[in-house]
Amino acid sequence: MKDIIVEIKGLEKTYGKNEAETKAIQGIDLTIAREEFVSIVGKSGSGKSTLLNIIGGLERPTSGEVQIEGTNLFDMKDTSRTIFRRKHIGYVFQFFNLIPEMTVYENICLPSYLDHKDPDEDFIQTVMEKLGIYEKKGKYATELSGGEQQRVAVARALSLKPSILLADEPSGNLDKKNGEQLLELMLLSQRYFDQTILLVTHDLEIARLSQRMIVLEDGKIISDTALEGEKS
Ligand SMILES: Nc1ncnc2c1ncn2[C@@H]1O[C@H](COP(=O)(O)OP(=O)(O)OP(=O)(O)O)[C@@H](O)[C@H]1O
Ligand SMILES: [Mg+2]
Repeated sequence: MKDIIVEIKGLEKTYGKNEAETKAIQGIDLTIAREEFVSIVGKSGSGKSTLLNIIGGLERPTSGEVQIEGTNLFDMKDTSRTIFRRKHIGYVFQFFNLIPEMTVYENICLPSYLDHKDPDEDFIQTVMEKLGIYEKKGKYATELSGGEQQRVAVARALSLKPSILLADEPSGNLDKKNGEQLLELMLLSQRYFDQTILLVTHDLEIARLSQRMIVLEDGKIISDTALEGEKS
């Protein structure tokens, strides 16, 4: 049997109470093998970001279990979970979450600083070059276009070479060419670092390049299909 990296059982997430209640996730069971490249698609409000945030340990589920590399994420204390997350999971947020007072380079190195590690400068330079943001290294995040900020967010997520990369619409603000380049970089990174990738996208053309496509609707998985994936 393939090595399992993510195992989710009976997941539910409800926001609010009474009339304001929203069932964002309604009973998800999901197993992801190491080095799998999975895309998650579905309409706006179907629960994609909520699911990713829970797998990334950023939000606590209302019920259910999430195991990452055999460790139960929500059995840990908050501080241990923060450390675990930084070591194992790279996250590209839907709205980037860059620090405006920091330069591009500092933003990318932030996970290393938080982990009291020296950033791997050669590696970070390669990632910046591949993403076409090397010349922006010394600029502040506020001085960048939306697409550039997105690429900085991807570089930051890769900076500690996590075993799992979670990306929420990473190509959402990019034109076709940059979107494809970003995907190529993610595939390269997956192969190079034996990473598992979970990619949320509304773009079916991008989803088709993954190995497995999961469709969410009203917080449930309505289809889960193995794909060929595109071998480049
Ligand atoms: N913090 C929150 N408080 C209350 N409701 C929330 C919260 N976050 C999300 N929701 C609700 O949960 C549902 C799922 O939201 P989610 O952000 O996961 O959707 P999504 O699939 O990522 O949508 P999009 O494609 O627009 O990003 C939506 O109905 C949303 O309004
Ligand atoms: Mg979302």
